[in-house]
Amino acid sequence: MAQLLITGGAGFLGSHTCLVLLEAGHQLLVLDDFSNSSAISLERVAELAGVPLQRDQPTLKATLEAFTLVEGDIRDTQCLDALFTSAKAFGQPIEAVIHFAGLKAVGESVQQPLRYWDVNVVGTQRLLTAMNFHHCRTIVFSSSATLYGYPHPNQIPIPETAPIQPINPYGASKHAAEALLADLAGCSGKPEPIQASSGGWRIARLRYFNPVGAHPSGRIGEDPNGIPNNLFPFITQVAVGRRPELTVFGDDWPTPDGTGVRDYIHVMDLAEGHREALHSLLNSDPQLLTLNLGSGQGASVLDVVKAMEATSQRAIPHRIAPRRPGDAAITVANPTLAAQQLHWRTQRSLTDICRDGWAWQQDNPNGYGEACL
Ligand SMILES: NC(=O)c1ccc[n+]([C@@H]2O[C@H](COP(=O)([O-])OP(=O)(O)OC[C@H]3O[C@@H](n4cnc5c(N)ncnc54)[C@H](O)[C@@H]3O)[C@@H](O)[C@H]2O)c1
Repeated sequence: MAQLLITGGAGFLGSHTCLVLLEAGHQLLVLDDFSNSSAISLERVAELAGVPLQRDQPTLKATLEAFTLVEGDIRDTQCLDALFTSAKAFGQPIEAVIHFAGLKAVGESVQQPLRYWDVNVVGTQRLLTAMNFHHCRTIVFSSSATLYGYPHPNQIPIPETAPIQPINPYGASKHAAEALLADLAGCSGKPEPIQASSGGWRIARLRYFNPVGAHPSGRIGEDPNGIPNNLFPFITQVAVGRRPELTVFGDDWPTPDGTGVRDYIHVMDLAEGHREALHSLLNSDPQLLTLNLGSGQGASVLDVVKAMEATSQRAIPHRIAPRRPGDAAITVANPTLAAQQLHWRTQRSLTDICRDGWAWQQDNPNGYGEACL
């Protein structure tokens, strides 16, 4: 089993993936600055996994146990160097990194492009510099389907070879980080999703579609700051009474019911996809993998509203507003390559997503905000 560094491990996707990786027997060192998360998520992951959460500092004072948390910023080169150096000094060198840390709100990225490039691009570059220096050259990177911009109707479901055309600073920052990873792998400008890599780098660029839902225990889930940017947490917050109504942006899209169609993937399926990507990298020759993580199934906004109404047994008030600039009509993954390469596919349905997301929302109406451990 490997000693792993998980950046951004306290966040929505990171916390669920930490649980899956602990259950697979890996040792985890989480680095997070808590700019968009709470350490309570990791306390709960520890509780679910049945291991203690050890808190430490970048210059690690103690031998790494199964699950260690260090508070720090991926842009802090001294912090990164201290982590890699001290893990090695304890005879537990970091073998691979799963890199979730980043900023993810599209609207905010339009307002603050410099901040998005700083965290998502400069932060990734500093992390990769530290990895390279310390001879740790295996990384799973959080990329996004937002890279596909407005996909052409002929390319739905979207293959990894579809044109990359980011339409906002968030997407541009993910594109830049992907390009840096390709450069490191010696694959600059080559579009093939599976390529041999040079310099010993094993890299998976995972393009997530719409991760939603929660762990079935209801103990960990998505806890967005302020008004949710994404549909699913918004719907669950309306269902629980925290917000009065849902705004549906456009009912005149070229889709069966006129509302936008997305590929919703249960966060536990996504977490398991990371486990499989990591294991595939650790057991293969150096390579650059670029894979969609999605279900291959589309659901419209109204489909999700109906599914959540059925699960929660509550009406979800909604009103139709004009289309929002920057939205695409349909975004659905072609997940064939991930199935072939990782022997992974989604196992959970929209009904499962609603059941687990609703359990989390009901048990934690204010997220981790007022939670007791
Ligand atoms: N959730 C989605 O819909 C989605 C879709 C596609 C891609 N992604 C990408 O997946 C990754 C994880 O997303 P998430 O939904 O878990 O987001 P999240 O905000 O819940 O988690 C990100 C974590 O990174 C931490 N972080 C941010 N900046 C940091 C820094 N400078 N140093 C250290 N830690 C830092 C945050 O505190 C947070 O815990 C992000 O890179 C995001 O862009 C997310």
